Amino acid sequence: MRVAVIPGDGIGPEVISAAVRAIEVVADDLEMVTADMGLGAFQRTGSYLPERTLELLRDVPAALFGAITSPLSYDASYRSPLLRIRKEFDLYANIRPVRRLQPDIGMVDLDVIIVRENTEGMYTGVERDIDGGVVTERKVTRRACERLVDRAVRLCREQGRKRLTCVHKSNVLRRSDGLFREVFYERTEGQGIETNDMLVDAAAAALVSKPRELDVLVTLNLYGDILSDEAAALAGGLGFAPSVNMGDKLALFEPTHGSAPDIAGKGLANPVAAMLSAAMMLRHLGMGEKASRMERAIEGTLSRGNRTADAGGRLGTEGFTTAYLEVLGSL
Ligand code: NAI
Ligand code: MG
Repeated sequence: MRVAVIPGDGIGPEVISAAVRAIEVVADDLEMVTADMGLGAFQRTGSYLPERTLELLRDVPAALFGAITSPLSYDASYRSPLLRIRKEFDLYANIRPVRRLQPDIGMVDLDVIIVRENTEGMYTGVERDIDGGVVTERKVTRRACERLVDRAVRLCREQGRKRLTCVHKSNVLRRSDGLFREVFYERTEGQGIETNDMLVDAAAAALVSKPRELDVLVTLNLYGDILSDEAAALAGGLGFAPSVNMGDKLALFEPTHGSAPDIAGKGLANPVAAMLSAAMMLRHLGMGEKASRMERAIEGTLSRGNRTADAGGRLGTEGFTTAYLEVLGSL
């Protein structure tokens, strides 16, 4: 099987190189084709998203991506290559599992998966001036809600998750969020999973105060953006947070963090988020057993006290990766 690997900018290449080494030893039959994207790609080729990369993505079921740096100076013609990919491949669900891996990492004992709508909601980018201010258009369609909820139901089944919670604000946004809530109950009825719904403000509090009552959350774009950063911070920070942007043809796996220019090139980046994203990719490709082996090795590496600086340790990317390879070999 062939997949794309897009290291990107900053710490992207550092954590992706660690993740590639972490996969190679468990799935040596996977063909990984490297492609270019981001600010470095622009400097090398004149394009933030070279045509060759797009062609490759049209040809593979999955891609592993690091991070890219947004241009600092304002350029009116700049379009984020990530947003372009999301649109072109209709990556409609952003899925972020958040789990605290060790008792001394993070603050809250979380184990949730957040399934976030990725194409509309507050992120239509349509704003217009009105007298004295600006109006922003927010869009919620039945079709987007249906396929999002269906995807969340499938995820619960595949991963043996028991409860699906719809997170919304339909007490205020009665029609738009009301539609989302209505579709949620329509599509989950008779599916054999426990369902409930929560207002987004209550969900933000519950992540801190009742984390064990939350299992899988399905929610609209802006709520999911905010809740998933909150959850990631509670469970140990960006260095541990994997994600996938999922469409029907392509799934793009990536650590939640950005290119971290403040530590780039120093060999300090925590590779766990990228490694966990790589494990998610294997599971998506039907290699669940190999994915579990990777995850057990990552946890084993952490449980033996190996930590990068963001988690209070002294290891760099290379040191952590070497420790992982040793633990994997001993499993
Ligand atoms: P960031 O996630 O790159 O960094 C935030 C803070 O977390 C920094 O202090 C960084 O050192 C630390 N951090 C992040 N990942 C880490 C890791 N694996 N190990 C240890 N520490 C880590 O977010 P920031 O600084 O807001 O953005 C930097 C650049 O990344 C910007 O150009 C931004 O546009 C871009 N970005 C790209 C994303 C993507 O490609 N998906 C997502 C978010 C930001
Ligand atoms: Mg965000």
